[in-house]
Amino acid sequence: MKKVIIIGASSGIGEALARVFAKNGYIIGLTARRIELLKNIQAELKTKSYVKYMDLLKPDDAIRALEELIREMDGVDIVIINSGTGHEGKILEFEKERIAIDVNVLGFTAMAAPAYGASKAYLSFYLEGLRHKFAQQKQNIYITDIKPGYVYTPLTQNHEKMIWVSTAQKAASQIYDAIIGKKKHAYITKRWILLAWLLKIIPDFIYNRF
Ligand SMILES: NC(=O)c1ccc[n+]([C@@H]2O[C@H](COP(=O)([O-])OP(=O)(O)OC[C@H]3O[C@@H](n4cnc5c(N)ncnc54)[C@H](OP(=O)(O)O)[C@@H]3O)[C@@H](O)[C@H]2O)c1
Repeated sequence: MKKVIIIGASSGIGEALARVFAKNGYIIGLTARRIELLKNIQAELKTKSYVKYMDLLKPDDAIRALEELIREMDGVDIVIINSGTGHEGKILEFEKERIAIDVNVLGFTAMAAPAYGASKAYLSFYLEGLRHKFAQQKQNIYITDIKPGYVYTPLTQNHEKMIWVSTAQKAASQIYDAIIGKKKHAYITKRWILLAWLLKIIPDFIYNRF
């Protein structure tokens, strides 16, 4: 029998997924904080299931809980990282934003993997959200999203395969122009826009060769 773990299975989409997978014969691992809800769902599932407390606000404990659950289930075929939280509001309150970041970004990363590119994509989307918010509020604030390619700095000193590398001075000069010019986005150096565009359309099987 195939096995699936659903992280964040106590309500909404995660709960519904648990029911769909059980209907299709899967053994289910259910995780979340609201353990009573998980037990109620477990009682209604037709296939064997496991319940595990997991709080993504405590990523180290969450990793341990996931490992434990995988051991108890003697392996797993699919892991669905569904947990998420968020709030909408006119005012940016960091404490509320922090919970969303901790669960949706840090918590997700604890359950999955490579963080660097994804964390940068997060920044881009965050800046886009801020830009819309300021526009709606008619605030005279401009957001420039700087997307550097490779730049010689301590961060990249051990990288072996780099192309189109610029000096920090050249990068800084182009960043300055973009900010002063109130650009929404700027690739540094400019030619990286070509590669960014190519990466969006290139098929995975070609990308994975590099
Ligand atoms: N509903 C939508 O329209 C919509 C649209 C786009 C994306 N999504 C995404 O879809 C996913 C499911 O959302 P939903 O709409 O089904 O919402 P939901 O009913 O509120 O379910 C959220 C799930 O995340 C879990 N969760 C929240 N905080 C957690 C934490 N600290 N540790 C572990 N688990 C946590 C919750 O479990 P506990 O509270 O019991 O821990 C719950 O099982 C989320 O990632 C959400 O961002 C939803």
